[in-house]
Amino acid sequence: MTDHVFSQLEDQPVDGLLALMLAYRADPRPHKIDLGLGVYRDAQGVTPVMRAVKAAERILLETQDSKVYLGVDGDSAFVAGLAPIVFGTERAADERLVGMQTPGGTGALRLAADLVARANPGATLWLGDPTWANHRPIFRAAGVAMRAHPLFDPLTQHVDLDGFLAALDGGRPGDAVLLHGSCHNPTGIDFSPAQWARIADVVARRRLLPIVDLAYQGLGRGLDEDAAGMRLLFDRAEALIIAYSCDKNFGLYRERTGALWVRCPDVASRARVQSAMRSPARTSWSMPPDHGAAVVRLILASPALTADWRAELATMRLRILGLREALAAAHPMLAPLAQQTGIFGMLPIPAAAVRAIRADHAIYVADDGRANIAGLQHDMIAPVVAALTPYLQGAGAAIAR
Ligand code: LMR
Repeated sequence: MTDHVFSQLEDQPVDGLLALMLAYRADPRPHKIDLGLGVYRDAQGVTPVMRAVKAAERILLETQDSKVYLGVDGDSAFVAGLAPIVFGTERAADERLVGMQTPGGTGALRLAADLVARANPGATLWLGDPTWANHRPIFRAAGVAMRAHPLFDPLTQHVDLDGFLAALDGGRPGDAVLLHGSCHNPTGIDFSPAQWARIADVVARRRLLPIVDLAYQGLGRGLDEDAAGMRLLFDRAEALIIAYSCDKNFGLYRERTGALWVRCPDVASRARVQSAMRSPARTSWSMPPDHGAAVVRLILASPALTADWRAELATMRLRILGLREALAAAHPMLAPLAQQTGIFGMLPIPAAAVRAIRADHAIYVADDGRANIAGLQHDMIAPVVAALTPYLQGAGAAIAR
C-alpha cells in the first residue's frame, strides 16, 4: 500500500443509527418499514413542516433584511423566548441562568462535555445503560471519563431505579450525571415526580452536576410535564446544565436548532461560565446557523403562532400515545409500551430477532431493539406484531441477547 499523509488513519466505528438509515434507503422491498432514526411521522407517513413553522418562514422571507452574523451566542431573542417554555416564567428570569444557541441538541451536548472537562478535569460522567448511541462518543471526544449505571432491561422492561441511585451514591462531588429530561431515548422511560425527587436527593447530597438532555419536550405527557424533572433539579442541584433540542418538538430536524443553558451556582460565577461556554463554540462552529432559531423566535413572539404550535404538538403527542396503546393492546409482551412515553421504545426481543425481522420482513429497528414508535402508521401494527410474535413468545429474562 502506498505510504501517504493519511496512511496512519484508523477506521472509525460506524454509527449504527446512520448506517441503519442508509440500509433502509437501499432496501428495494416496497413493503419496508422504517422504525430506525428518531423522526415523527404523521398518519400519512410524512414528517411534516409544522404549520406555525411555515407561517414563521413566510414572515421571515418577507422581513429578514440581512444575513449578517449574529455572534457566537446566536440569536439571543430565540434563547430568551424559549426559556419560559423550558423553565417556566419564574425560573427563566433567574439571574443565575445563562444560555446560548447551539447547532441542535448535539451541539449543546458537545459544549456541555467541554464545560465538564474544563471545570473539573478529574470528573466522571455517569450515564445510563442504555442511552442514546451518540452520548458516549460526544463525551469521549471531549476527553471526559465515563461510567455506566444500571437503568433498564429491555427484555423484562424493568427500570432499575434502585441500581441507578446506588451507583450514583458512589459518585464524587463534581462528577456529572447525564439525564434524559423526558421521553428517554432509547427506552421511553418516564420517571414519576416521586422518582425524580429521589434522583434529585442523591444529586444534591453527593453534589453531582446534572446534565439534562431535553430533546423531546412536549412529545411525552405535555410541555410542562416533560420539563418537571429538570425543573426540580434546577431548584435542588448546586448547578445544572441543560442541552435542548428544537429538532423534534418544532419539527426542525435539519435546521439544527438547539440551546445550551447553565444554571450557575451563583450570579458571581455567571460570567466565567459564559466565557467557558463560548470558547469551544467559537473554535467549533464560530457562530450557529440562524434559520431554525429565527423561526422559533418568530413563533414564540406571536401568541397566535404559539397557540397553533402548541395545538399541533399536542396532536403529535396524542398520535404517539395512540400508537403506543395500539401496540400494547396487540400483544401482552408489548403492554409496557403504553406506560412509557415519547417516540422510542425498546422491543423485548433478542438481538438475533432484530436482525431476523430486518432480513425476513424489511422491518428496520435499531440494533439494540429500539423502535421509533412515531414512525408507525396504524395499518403497520398488525404486520409488525405478526413479525415480532415468534420472538416475543417466551421472550423475557430467560433469553440471552
Ligand atoms: C435518534 O436518536 O434517532 C435521533 O436523535 C437522531 C440522531 O441524530 O441519532
